[in-house]
Amino acid sequence: MSLSRHIDPDEVIQKSKDHPQTGHRLSHEGRAVHQSWSRDEDAAGVPKYRMPDVGIPSKAAYQLLHDETALDGNPLLNLASFVHTWMPDEATKLIMENINKNQVDLDEYPAATMIHNRCVSMGEFIPLYISHRWNLIDHQIIIPHPQSHQRPVASLWKAPTASTNAIGTSTAGSSEAIMLAGLALKKRWQNARRAADKPSSNPNIVFGSNAQVALEKFARYFDVECRLVPVKASNNYVMDPKDALAFIDENTIGVMVILGSTYTGHFENVKEMSELRALRFFSHAASGGFIAPFAYPSLQWSFDVPRVVSINTSGHKFGLVYAGIGWVIWRDEQYLSKDLVFELRE
Ligand SMILES: Cc1ncc(COP(=O)(O)O)c(C=O)c1O
Repeated sequence: MSLSRHIDPDEVIQKSKDHPQTGHRLSHEGRAVHQSWSRDEDAAGVPKYRMPDVGIPSKAAYQLLHDETALDGNPLLNLASFVHTWMPDEATKLIMENINKNQVDLDEYPAATMIHNRCVSMGEFIPLYISHRWNLIDHQIIIPHPQSHQRPVASLWKAPTASTNAIGTSTAGSSEAIMLAGLALKKRWQNARRAADKPSSNPNIVFGSNAQVALEKFARYFDVECRLVPVKASNNYVMDPKDALAFIDENTIGVMVILGSTYTGHFENVKEMSELRALRFFSHAASGGFIAPFAYPSLQWSFDVPRVVSINTSGHKFGLVYAGIGWVIWRDEQYLSKDLVFELRE
């Protein structure tokens, strides 16, 4: 546990002030000021929860925040958050050189955008290499569709070729990807219900109770009833597709199938789920998306399972990448409602 969790610096100072022998001699009172930091008189007494009346030198501000964040845990020793924490110096330098760019402003920073697209395209060669090694896919399959920026990752996940147009985007991580994939499921279900003149106000989503909190957040943020399938020891504490059946009905927008479970890393059974029930599935491969294709090439969990309409993964769970980067890909653009797509025109 990080120091900041179990040590309250204000409390420590307060106790030392009250101490009969070693009474602290700070002149200022109150817990709402930075009284723990008095090495530099410029920063001593700076309020914590309101703007100070006068500013302090940047050096003092740096030191104050530096000291406070030093109470966090050590990321290099933290395996629990599934985030890789090291990059070579050159990568860190490059990040710092570009950190002042507003990367979402595509007009102002087209070079960065082009590099982003090139990086995505470069992924094309990775599946090519893999396909050679494990005979997974034919060359033709991995040639990116000219319109489809995420074709390479789509190939890694065995997206079908010519007849479909896989589409996707990078995200800040799996959490954002879940929101987008869930929304796409919801919109598609709503559109289908409206077209059939059926009520579309009570959507629900089904996933195992082992789900990471981001999946539940999707349900809460976007007014979708969250149906949690209890997990059991006999199924390695992940969702058993047979148990999930009882939670699915005509208002189910889809099932989120997890690879791997946050707590144990176990993969849920995408293929079995798909065989049991004709429904749309989202393979939530937060940690498994870049592991399964390499470690278990014959496992059917991705777009080779026909009912899997979208897949996501976190880039930052694998290595040499700082948080946060993720990806979400749809098997075909028909599964991504037009309402969710923005086209920038020159
Ligand atoms: C199964 C699962 N889903 C979602 C997440 C959240 O991922 P991110 O940090 O990329 O948003 C995690 C993180 O551990 C996870 O294990």
